Amino acid sequence: KDSEVKNICCIGAGYVGGPTMAVIADNCPSLKVNVVDINEERIKKWNEKDFDRLPIYEPGLAEIIKRCRNKNLFFSIDIKKHIESADMIFLSVNTPIKKSGLGKGQASDLKYIESSTREIAKYAKGETIIVEKSTLPVRTAETIKSILESNDKSFNNQKFSVLSNPEFLAEGTAINDLENPDRVLIGGENPEAITALEEIYVNWVDKNKILKTNLWSSELSKLVANAFLAQRISSINSISAICETTGADINEVSRAIGMDTRIGEKFLNAGPGYGGSCFKKDILNLVYLSKYYGLNEVASYWQKVVDLNVWQQHRIRKIIVKKLFNNLTSKKIGIMGFSFKANTNDTRESPAIQICKDLIEEGADLRIYDPKVNKFQIEKDLEQNQFNDNGEGSWTLCKSIKDIAIDADAIVIATEWEEFKSLDWSDISRLMRSPKWLFDTRGITNSKDIKQHNINYWKIGLGDSS
Ligand code: NAD
Ligand code: UGA
Repeated sequence: KDSEVKNICCIGAGYVGGPTMAVIADNCPSLKVNVVDINEERIKKWNEKDFDRLPIYEPGLAEIIKRCRNKNLFFSIDIKKHIESADMIFLSVNTPIKKSGLGKGQASDLKYIESSTREIAKYAKGETIIVEKSTLPVRTAETIKSILESNDKSFNNQKFSVLSNPEFLAEGTAINDLENPDRVLIGGENPEAITALEEIYVNWVDKNKILKTNLWSSELSKLVANAFLAQRISSINSISAICETTGADINEVSRAIGMDTRIGEKFLNAGPGYGGSCFKKDILNLVYLSKYYGLNEVASYWQKVVDLNVWQQHRIRKIIVKKLFNNLTSKKIGIMGFSFKANTNDTRESPAIQICKDLIEEGADLRIYDPKVNKFQIEKDLEQNQFNDNGEGSWTLCKSIKDIAIDADAIVIATEWEEFKSLDWSDISRLMRSPKWLFDTRGITNSKDIKQHNINYWKIGLGDSS
């Protein structure tokens, strides 16, 4: 091998590994990119002939896969082979919250990082740059280095450098975020390794958007960015409750404060609480880190961001129960949207899960419609089979909005899919049972549009009197 990077291997073919490597392959035709995973099923889906059946839905992703797959982008389960040939290896494995042991419920579970690092130690040949793409606790690079260095490296002439290169993409806009990042962060110690990674990004990213820091700043910045974003949502959600009781309108308040350029207008949409695989986990990680270093006030400050989010999700149930005469038994409730946000099939930590579980617990019969989420996923998330009506609440997945509206006592908008923004509410109203209710937890509908069709209306952050 010479020092130029020609072969890339990415361990982990998930929401980050798949789209990130697709964009790298698309922008760097001379690189060969191999994405590997232990999940055979997932790799099979990445190699599907039918591009509608890729394991991940992201606008624009299928087109890139069509252009690059089997040209310079490959999906495989042959981890050994692709580690052996790689000059640069991205770690994009999952880093969930620990379910047991020390740090249970807060600390990151690094078992996947450790197992993939051990694979690298076993198979890598010559000089290899290891890039942390997964979101990791501060100083994980140290752990990675110790595992790599504990190996007898003489056999394969191994030499490793470790870089931190956190990913800031958001699901639903992953391709656009990867194509036009606000910044690319590279943390590391070895200047040649840093340059090698920079050389890849400059193929499509402006050089002045590439920030170089030390390893620990880079790892910490990722956790802090997510904590700040989530904090904005908890802040605006806390105000949504004040709006509902005072007659103020959260959309007007968001607009008014967002026009202050110091505050900014983005990420000020009140909703049913943030979901997604990362905000909760990354803040809890920061809480754990703070406690570990004896910074208890810092820990409780960030813990509150999570607590408020849990409160907001359960608050929706209370409102629905109260408006529907304190009784949901055998009432039909349509649920619009199940993914944690629009334009993704991902349901991890989706607020819709908690809302549905709460309503089922109250005895409601739910009719769920989501343009991208399938039955098996919902079954897994709700921990209950479809049609399992034991008289204590049930759920069914429907194919259309019309199907969820038939005889429904209420409809709950749980995800802000574009198609829910321009519905014909007169048609929907005709199918529902009176008294009819719409609960808009995403604030995407207009009260006048709904009320004129004889539907009672509740919207997040909107007082009854406004
Ligand atoms: P994911 O669960 O979708 O994908 C991770 C993949 O890694 C899985 O397919 C799993 O089978 C595979 N894997 C685990 N151990 C392996 C091993 N030893 N060898 C080979 N494959 C292995 O997770 P994700 O959403 O892509 O997130 C990955 C990381 O990126 C996390 O640390 C997350 O915090 C971070 N992140 C995620 C997002 C996002 O939007 N999802 C954005 C930025 C950062
Ligand atoms: C988030 C960050 O935005 C990414 O920068 C980061 O890379 C990623 O986490 C990660 O580390 O995983 P993501 O979770 O995909 O991305 O999606 P967001 O757009 O941030 O939305 C998260 C949740 O907040 C969703 O449930 C969304 O509906 C909610 N949200 C977002 C609001 O309730 N209000 C808002 O104003 C914005």
